[in-house]
Amino acid sequence: MATTDQVQDWIPEHVPPELAWDGDYHGFAAETDDPFLRVGELHAGPDILWTRQVGIGLGSSGGAGWLLTRQALMREVLFDTEHFVSGQTGMMSTIGIDWKLIPLEYNPPEHQLYRKVLEPFFSPASINALDGAVRQVCDELVEGFASRDHCEFIGEFAEKFPSHIFLDLMGMPRERLGDFLAWERGMLRPKTPEQGVEAMRAILDYLEGFVREQRKNPTSPLMKGIVSARYNDERELTETEILSTCYLLYIGGLDTVFSTIGWIFWHLAQDPSLQDRLRDNPEEIPRAVEELLRGFGAASTGRVVIKDLEFHGVQMRAGENVHCSLPLASRDPDAYDEPHRIDIDRDTLRHISFGTGTHTCLGLRLARRELKIVLESLLPRFANIRIPKGANHAFHTGSVFGVDRLPLEWELIGD
Ligand code: HEM
Repeated sequence: MATTDQVQDWIPEHVPPELAWDGDYHGFAAETDDPFLRVGELHAGPDILWTRQVGIGLGSSGGAGWLLTRQALMREVLFDTEHFVSGQTGMMSTIGIDWKLIPLEYNPPEHQLYRKVLEPFFSPASINALDGAVRQVCDELVEGFASRDHCEFIGEFAEKFPSHIFLDLMGMPRERLGDFLAWERGMLRPKTPEQGVEAMRAILDYLEGFVREQRKNPTSPLMKGIVSARYNDERELTETEILSTCYLLYIGGLDTVFSTIGWIFWHLAQDPSLQDRLRDNPEEIPRAVEELLRGFGAASTGRVVIKDLEFHGVQMRAGENVHCSLPLASRDPDAYDEPHRIDIDRDTLRHISFGTGTHTCLGLRLARRELKIVLESLLPRFANIRIPKGANHAFHTGSVFGVDRLPLEWELIGD
């Protein structure tokens, strides 16, 4: 942490110098093979840090700000909508758009009115109804490498799976998959900042045309629901509101699932006994999914302080960013014994990998179902899944920690 004579202009006067961390969070996380283990080192320091440049989280902007290291503090912030708000600097402003993402970047009371539009499509019954379709997509993709004893798991499966589901959910043509994958890569893993902006624009251009068509002739139950929904029982959603909702579903449902699948298989490839246990006891898969979600909270979020307050002895001022790194929440030793150990028998599987409070992930049931189906489909076919000797995974940090490449090999079951 900074000493008093090192204090610089990125540390406002009300910030105690001992809380200032001049580190680069993303670079720091990426310094070893395991970014979750690495960020866990921050738990040895203060519960609240002031950082020069952290910029994580959909609900806040980049720049200097507070970084919470404790899950309990993140829970408080995510529940306290009186002092901490989402979407103060809209994510779409990156491409010069002034509207906000629905419902994520709205705050109560508008937030609930928008969220109500989507809720029926993510209810337990709706997700049950999607089960067969999700399973079919999964099996079709697995068929692509089912007779081999190896694959590059991210490119051949993890990246494609949530995109297929998204296309089906939205009623978009499967032929657009190639474009979607290219845009997704461009947006989330851009080689230059310009490429990121270009990809966000391309998605927007596509969605604009799609929304215009859907207003006339919706091609899925979800789109029918969105285009005919009545906001606050008073009026239909405008074209921009529909566009904004679709854009958020795109951002929310692809990267997060793809990333979580990547980390889950990275872990399983190093934990053959867990693979065996789940293969022999598939009824334990939901519990395993929960513990893996607990340990690999890949997404992060953030809020902006809207009213000055004292938060656990720290003065926070209106306009400041508060970053909630969910990888840090996942590995908080105050919340879990031996937080770095994946243990499906642990007493509490309570976690905030889907956020908490008013913006708790709307897609969590779908995400859990997708992850369960992936394990149910792959484990009975492939034994001793592992990373080949000498090979390694590649990953990125950022708003969502994700695996970019994961070579895997196995023995075929039934051979
Ligand atoms: C493992 C997969 C997923 C993870 C880890 C995840 C994580 C999160 C997190 C942390 C938030 C809260 C953000 C905040 O409070 O600022 C969130 C919100 C949201 N997620 Fe997910 N998500 C996942 C999958 C999905 C899927 C599959 C969908 C839909 C297709 C989805 C749709 C949403 C929506 C609409 C919100 C905004 C909710 C609101 O503002 O009320 N997510 N997600």
